[in-house]
Amino acid sequence: MSGRRVIEICASADEAAARVAELFLDAARTAQADRGSFTVALSGGTSPIPFFHRLACEASNSGVDWSAVHVFWADERCVHPDHAESNFRLADELFLSRLPTPGATVHRVPGELPPDEAARRYEEELERFFPGMEMPVFDLILLGVGNDGHTASLFPGRVPDGFVGRKAVAVYVEKLKSHRVTLTLPVINNARHVVFLATGAGKARIVAEVLKGTGGADYPAGKIVPGEGTLTWLLDKDAASKLEN
Ligand code: 6PG
Repeated sequence: MSGRRVIEICASADEAAARVAELFLDAARTAQADRGSFTVALSGGTSPIPFFHRLACEASNSGVDWSAVHVFWADERCVHPDHAESNFRLADELFLSRLPTPGATVHRVPGELPPDEAARRYEEELERFFPGMEMPVFDLILLGVGNDGHTASLFPGRVPDGFVGRKAVAVYVEKLKSHRVTLTLPVINNARHVVFLATGAGKARIVAEVLKGTGGADYPAGKIVPGEGTLTWLLDKDAASKLEN
C-alpha cells in the first residue's frame, strides 16, 4: 500500500522555502493538537538554508509549542558538531538556536564518534524515543535529492539488504570520501509526511528522472514511497523545468 503523492511547483526558491516552512508549522500544530508533540527529521545540504531562515523568522508567532518539538536528522556527516560540514551545526546556527526558549529538544546523530558507533547510538536514541515500535513514525521528514539520485545518505548501490531491520546505519561514500549516518528506507517510508525540497535548474534532470521513474531504477530518492503517509515534492519552477518533456 502506498500513500498520496503531491507535486507542488513554486515560482521561486524563496517561495518554495516559504511553503516548506508553512508545511512544517502546519504539521507541528496538527501533531501537537492530536498527539501532544511533533517529531521531525531534517536534512543537510544547501537546499534547506532559506527554509531554516524562514522558520527562524516565523517561529515566535507560529502558535507552535517549541518545547514539544523533537528534532532528529535524516542523515549526518561523521564530523564534530561544530564542524562546517555538520548538518546539526547548520540547523542549529540558522534555526534551532534562534527559537524562543526553552526551544526544541535536539536528538542529534553523534557524528564525532566512529561511524558504526554513531549509527548504533542514534538507533538507540530512536528506540528510546519510539519505544516498542518496530519502526519509528516521524510526523515529518524533510529530504533533499542529489544529482546521482541519493537522498538522506542513501546513495545508489548503497541501499543493500544488509540494512534490513536497521533504523540507522553508517555508510562510507567513496566519491565524497565521507563517512555518514543515515536513516534507513523503512524508517523514512514509515513517516506521516515526507517532503522533498529541490530548487534550481541543476536539479531539473534528476527531479524529472525520479518523478517519471526513468533513468534507472536504482535512485534511492525514487524508493521513497511512504506506506501510508503523504509524499510531497516541493520544487521551484527551475527544478520542475524538465517535468513536462
Ligand atoms: C546531506 C543530505 C543530502 C542532501 C542532498 C541535496 O547531508 O548532504 O542530507 O541528502 O539533501 O545531497 O543537497 P543540496 O541541498 O546541497 O543539493
